[in-house]
Amino acid sequence: MSRYQELQTHLASNRYRWLVTGVAGFIGSNLLETLLRLGQEVVGLDNFATGHRHNIEQALADAGETQDCGRFSFIEADICDLDSCRKACEGVDFVLHQAALGSVPRSLEDPIRTNSANIDGFLNMLLAARDAGCRRFVYAASSSTYGDHPDLPKVEEKIGNPLSPYAVTKVVNELYAQVFARCYGFKTVGLRYFNIFGKRQDPNGAYAAVIPKWVASLINGEEVFINGDGETSRDFCYIDNTVQMNILAAFAEDEAAVDQVYNVALNDRTSLTRLFEMIQERLLQRVDGLRPVKPTYRDFRPGDVRHSQADIGKARRLLGYAPSHRIDQGLDEAMEWYVASLG
Ligand SMILES: NC(=O)c1ccc[n+]([C@@H]2O[C@H](COP(=O)([O-])OP(=O)(O)OC[C@H]3O[C@@H](n4cnc5c(N)ncnc54)[C@H](O)[C@@H]3O)[C@@H](O)[C@H]2O)c1
Repeated sequence: MSRYQELQTHLASNRYRWLVTGVAGFIGSNLLETLLRLGQEVVGLDNFATGHRHNIEQALADAGETQDCGRFSFIEADICDLDSCRKACEGVDFVLHQAALGSVPRSLEDPIRTNSANIDGFLNMLLAARDAGCRRFVYAASSSTYGDHPDLPKVEEKIGNPLSPYAVTKVVNELYAQVFARCYGFKTVGLRYFNIFGKRQDPNGAYAAVIPKWVASLINGEEVFINGDGETSRDFCYIDNTVQMNILAAFAEDEAAVDQVYNVALNDRTSLTRLFEMIQERLLQRVDGLRPVKPTYRDFRPGDVRHSQADIGKARRLLGYAPSHRIDQGLDEAMEWYVASLG
């Protein structure tokens, strides 16, 4: 039995109280769904900066629950407000902190807003969780922390210079977490997400991630743009692997496994041109009347790293991480969802 299976069995007969910040977003709503399925009690917090009420409703529905099931409560608040963070942490065992303003281009256009949510808000959450005596603070870090470090695959100990304001905020999160461990003995785990994808990832808006954006463009018959020559590559990671890592991190007991950061990925690398082909193949099989198109290549995007691929040995070794989905399986499941909701 894998460590994740053991924990799922444990959770099925033990109820804990979890706080998921950013619960109306992509990753947060998927965490909510899994925790409810496992019989857990969840407090969700979000200010709807980029998330949506319908994500929460859908997560509840997919878990077979309703808003008044008694195991979910929602706080509409900004993590920049310390009092709200304190209220959200009351009686909480595990914090899964996802709330932040994502997107490298957004941070280049508005570094101050990104800084407030991602650094001031992060510090508020860390402080509130420490003062409330939460057992563990698991937070969304980012592969952008590797910046200009040339090595591939990326190992947690070797980072370069940040290439965007967004990356700076995620580096600072890790520094604060380390300092809270050192100065206050507060236990945290940082998860450096690589390119996560799956259901409820927002296809709309100027800062949408590549997979949902291309899916929506293809379904709507719009032009698909690839930034650069198409050889830029990423370690795309399905949401179920990400949810697994959050739960493993929450229950990591070994001293060596806590106060650490981990890559959340597959140790795989897919070029943008190949990704486009994989998405198009799947949509052509699923959407009637769709015709194959060619993508349009345009300039590289500032702040983007050329290649990204993670070593996941540390997560396997210290947390027992065993990814359940390779990229193909993840895309199959994600496309079913996108076709059902956008098609
Ligand atoms: N999706 C990825 O590939 C990826 C990669 C690396 C890191 N991350 C990190 O993972 C986390 C979740 O990302 P996501 O993809 O689900 O993004 P998302 O935009 O779908 O979710 C973020 C949620 O946080 C909320 N939020 C933002 N600012 C807030 C504030 N000040 N107060 C309260 N709520 C606030 C938003 O409304 C949204 O619901 C973020 O910290 C992001 O930086 C994501």
